[in-house]
Amino acid sequence: MKIIDGKKISQEIRKELKKEIEKLKIKNVIPGLGIILVGNDPASEIYVRNKLKTCKELGINAQLYRFTENNSEEEIIKAIKELNVDINIDGIIVQSPVPSCFCEDKIISYVDPKKDVDGFGIVQLGFLLSKQEQKLAATPLGILKMLEYENIDIEGKHVVIVGDSLIVGRPLSALLLNRGATVTIAHKKTINLKELTRQADILIVAIGQPNFITEEYVKDGAIVIDVGINRVDGHLVGDVDFNRVFKKASYITPVPGGVGPMTITMLLSNVVDEAKIRSELNGSKN
Ligand code: GUN
Repeated sequence: MKIIDGKKISQEIRKELKKEIEKLKIKNVIPGLGIILVGNDPASEIYVRNKLKTCKELGINAQLYRFTENNSEEEIIKAIKELNVDINIDGIIVQSPVPSCFCEDKIISYVDPKKDVDGFGIVQLGFLLSKQEQKLAATPLGILKMLEYENIDIEGKHVVIVGDSLIVGRPLSALLLNRGATVTIAHKKTINLKELTRQADILIVAIGQPNFITEEYVKDGAIVIDVGINRVDGHLVGDVDFNRVFKKASYITPVPGGVGPMTITMLLSNVVDEAKIRSELNGSKN
């Protein structure tokens, strides 16, 4: 059994990103990220704080726009429209979930697809489904990078994804399918989940239920990727019961220190990619 060290992989990628950002700065381009945060979901507060901290460490200019439930949808949309035309902003994210008094899909639809570094908008999801990948959602991209780092081949493998969310399960399934995996998505209504997950060469779990997946759900030698981050008695635990599963798996990601750090890194990698395009465009104008 090998633990996939997301923290280490992420640090290596961040080192490379820092070098790229230094090169961009010489060309007077500072990558810019606009973050829209609505409400005070505790998990979102932590995610956004970590995103801001990492932006600062890497030299990315992050601008946070905070809104409460007392703001109107028009005010949020106005901020997005301003960010869309701001030439110093390369990427925009709307932290999910947005409080239910707003329509999250409608708000996200105002993000210019060229600046949709989360890859959640309909245009980017459409590109992904039609095998013309452009900007890929950060968590699926982070998982892909971890598998690549460990030289784990996905072509022809049976990947079972537990969780059909727009942020992880759905884009990840298309991404893996585009790379030749056989993909099954399980969700709340799936019957005989255990029978299904036991067929997985690669089992990916993103359901937000602490320690849900135990050894009976896992085939001997399977690769287990845990996307869950749950707080239990003041500790962070995944959706996979690590202590019960790790002996059975050939590779497993820990929580914390697995998929989590990769998600922020790949988001910022998407921002830097956009800043590089901006720098090339500036160069061609001069
Ligand atoms: N909420 C949980 N994960 C994410 C993410 O990757 N991006 C955004 N925008 N919201 C999230």
